[in-house]
Amino acid sequence: MAAKGLEGVVVAQSKLSDINGEVGELIYAGYDIDDLARNTTFEEVCYLLWNGQLPNREQLDEIRGHLQQHSALRPEVLDMLRAYPRDADPMAAVRTAISALGMFDPDADDISAESVRHKAIFLTAQTPTIVAAYDRIRRGLEPLQPRAGLSFAANFLYMLNGEEANDTRCRTMDVALVLHAEHGMNASTFAARVTAGTLSDVYSAITSAIGTLKGPSHGGANVEVMNMLREIDESGEDPGEWVRGALGSGKKVMGFGHRVYKATDPRATVLRELADKIMQEAGETRWLDLSDKIRGVMAEEMEKKGKKIYPNVDFFSASVYTTLGIEMDLFTAVFALARMPGWTAHLMEQYADNRLIRPGSDYLGPRGLKVTPLDQR
Ligand code: ACO
Repeated sequence: MAAKGLEGVVVAQSKLSDINGEVGELIYAGYDIDDLARNTTFEEVCYLLWNGQLPNREQLDEIRGHLQQHSALRPEVLDMLRAYPRDADPMAAVRTAISALGMFDPDADDISAESVRHKAIFLTAQTPTIVAAYDRIRRGLEPLQPRAGLSFAANFLYMLNGEEANDTRCRTMDVALVLHAEHGMNASTFAARVTAGTLSDVYSAITSAIGTLKGPSHGGANVEVMNMLREIDESGEDPGEWVRGALGSGKKVMGFGHRVYKATDPRATVLRELADKIMQEAGETRWLDLSDKIRGVMAEEMEKKGKKIYPNVDFFSASVYTTLGIEMDLFTAVFALARMPGWTAHLMEQYADNRLIRPGSDYLGPRGLKVTPLDQR
């Protein structure tokens, strides 16, 4: 019997993260996501995922140094970004740039543990610079070099906006990155592992992952959330009526539901708090107020239908990113740069204990047909 969508099928053993969807719990390498989001930085989480333990101060300084050291783009990559169409989907731009990086790496095909670990740091360091550089180029601005001494999150905001963000904004970006760093056997991670399972290289595996994350049922959902918020805002329609209308016509409300969580996504809880803080500070709570109304109506409607559909991480990330000055069509690319440590940590596991991933399928087509000569068909 086919397991449509592979639901419930276990395809790997992993020490990276675990999700208890019934109670809405997520852990990275033993630590609760809420604890990590409140008490660590993205760089510490990168180290945790790549090493299985949190760094001490010396180890943290070292990983920060490595990430900074590899964050500048080579001139050929910048030239390539300048040659891309300015109206390209940023995810297509990032996917293509990451794929191209592989051609400049003479050790691209080296899948030894040491080399994969180096590529994990390299790709994690390069991706925010690629995203920010492409965004500036398409806006007719000069791309900026990474600035020494800034955290990973602060550097990304600086390279994007051309000025250093304040502490609240940097910390908000940092927590959003922590929340997106890893998430079990999600579709893009699976795609990365399938590619690595053929013993293909890290760049190819990450290119597969980025292509998979691009879809609106996965990473692209927060773009759709923002589209929805804007549509409701511009229509002047009552949010409750809008949501009921959408549900009545069989549409899914973006930012709700999850294949694994049958309770509130714990990442959404943290992001809701951050959204509140950053929007209060910005003096603009419009998107949060609207989101809260939609959440209330969805809770009522789903309860009536007896469905366990709750807000997911994308529901609040959309308005948080907008408040941080990130263009809507960059949201998924931000997700990609945040997920890089998770994807690469999975590649380390896959290469270390590889078996080709090759599921079967139930054949439903005809049998026994005979080929009719071409001119008689
Ligand atoms: N709005 C309204 N109804 C919904 C929603 C939603 N967002 N999500 C699920 N439902 C309904 C389904 O229509 C289905 O109803 P039915 O039983 O009457 O057919 C029921 O709830 C169960 O949902 P499934 O479709 O079986 O859930 P599935 O696991 O296949 O899909 C998915 C999960 C794709 C995320 C879905 O909930 C969805 O499309 N949500 C909107 C997009 C979104 O927010 N994606 C982000 C996912 S999180 C991430 O990638 C980081």
